[in-house]
Amino acid sequence: MLKGKNIILGVTGSISVYKAVDFASKLVQAGAVVDVVMTKAATEFVKPISFSSLTQRPVSTEMFPDKIDYDIAHISLSDRADLIVICPATANTIAKLANGIADDMLSSTVLATEAPVIIAPAMNYRMYRNEVTQQNIDKLKGRGFTFIGPATGRLASGAVGKGRLVDIKDVMGAAKQVLGRGGDLAGKKVVVTAGGTQEPIDPVRRVSNRSSGKMGYAIAEAARDRGASVVLVSAPTSLSAPYGVELVSIQTASQMHDAVVKAVDGCDVLIMAAAVADYRPKNIADSKIKKSADSLSIEMEKTTDILSDVSASVKIGFAAESDDLESNAQQKLAKKNLDFIVANDITTAGSGFDVDTNEVIIIDKSGQKTKLPLMPKIDVAHKILDRVAALVSKPTT
Ligand code: CTP
Repeated sequence: MLKGKNIILGVTGSISVYKAVDFASKLVQAGAVVDVVMTKAATEFVKPISFSSLTQRPVSTEMFPDKIDYDIAHISLSDRADLIVICPATANTIAKLANGIADDMLSSTVLATEAPVIIAPAMNYRMYRNEVTQQNIDKLKGRGFTFIGPATGRLASGAVGKGRLVDIKDVMGAAKQVLGRGGDLAGKKVVVTAGGTQEPIDPVRRVSNRSSGKMGYAIAEAARDRGASVVLVSAPTSLSAPYGVELVSIQTASQMHDAVVKAVDGCDVLIMAAAVADYRPKNIADSKIKKSADSLSIEMEKTTDILSDVSASVKIGFAAESDDLESNAQQKLAKKNLDFIVANDITTAGSGFDVDTNEVIIIDKSGQKTKLPLMPKIDVAHKILDRVAALVSKPTT
C-alpha cells in the first residue's frame, strides 16, 4: 500500500511531535519515501535530525534555505507527493491552511499541492472547540481535506478534553485508506464477520470457541486499503478495529445473524470469517448455577446458519477443519451456496487459531482449488480479495 509512495509528513509545534517521529519510522518501514517538513515551532520540540536519520532524507524547515537541493522547494516537493499528512497539526497551521496563507515551507507546500491531505490535529481542548478553529476545520473538510481526531483524554496541560493526537496506528490507517481510494474495490460495500461468538449459560458462564478474530480483521483492513467501504461485524476479540471500518460489536450467534442481515442490505460482498456457534444453551439461567449435583447437563439448541440464511451478490465462507479438509469444505461450499470457500487445516503448524499466519486452500464453485503456502494473515486476506475483486468487477449478465 505504502511501498514507493511519496509522502510529505508535515510536523507542527505541539508537545505530541515525538509521536510523529514514530509515525515517520512506521511509514519508512512500510516502504514509503518520506519527506518531512517542519514548522519552526516544531523544531523547538524535536530536532530535524530525529526525522532525517529515520527517513534518510533532508528535512525542510526553511522556505529560503542557504543551501537548496532543488528548485523552488515547496513546488517540487508538492508536485511529487502522493499524499500529505500533517501530524500533529496545530490550530495555527489549520487556520493558515483554511485561509490560504503560505508564509512557511509547510503552508506553501500544502497550498501548492493537488495531492490529498490528511490532518491529525493536536491542541488544547479550548483551542479545538473555539468556533474559529471549528469553522477552519469545516472549511478544509469542505475542500476535501481528511481530518482524523483529535481524541479525548489527558492533555499536556493536565486537563482532560478533546485535543489529543490520535493513535499513530490510526493515522497509518487513514493514510492507507486515502491512498487506496481508487483501488479495485472502490465503491464496493464489503461486510466481514470475525471472532468467535459467545453463548451465555448463566450470568457468569458462556460457551465459545478459540477464534481470535485475526483473519476477519485482516480482511476488513485489506478491503479498506483497496477502496471498499467495510462493515465489520465482530464477536468479542482483543483486537482494535482498523481505522475507517464500521464496527458492529455483537456477542451471540443470534446477534451476529441480525447484524449481518442488516449489514448485507445493499452490500456487494459478504465474507463470513467468524466462528459462529452451531448450538447455544436452550435456556439461559437467570442466576448463577450453583455447584450441587455431581454432573451437569446443558441442553443445547441449533443456531441459524447465517451464510445459508442470507443472500449477497458474492458470498465467501471459511471452513476450519481437523479432518477431511477438502471434502468437508466442498460440502459447505455447495450447501451454503458460496462463490468460494477458504479452507484451512487447524492441525497444521502456524495455521488456524490465534496466530498471525495461515495456510489455506481456496475452492471455488467450479471446483477449482488453489493451495496457498503459509503466509501472514494480511497476505492471505489480499489473496482472498484478489478473487473477490475479479468477481465484483465481472459485468452482470
Ligand atoms: N457459519 C454461519 N452460521 C453458522 C455457522 C457457521 O454462517 N451458524 C459460517 C461460518 O462463518 C463459516 C462457514 O459457515 O464461514 C462454515 O462454518 P463451520 O463452522 O466450519 O461449518 P458448519 O456449517 O457450522 O459445520 P460444522 O461445524 O459441522 O463443521
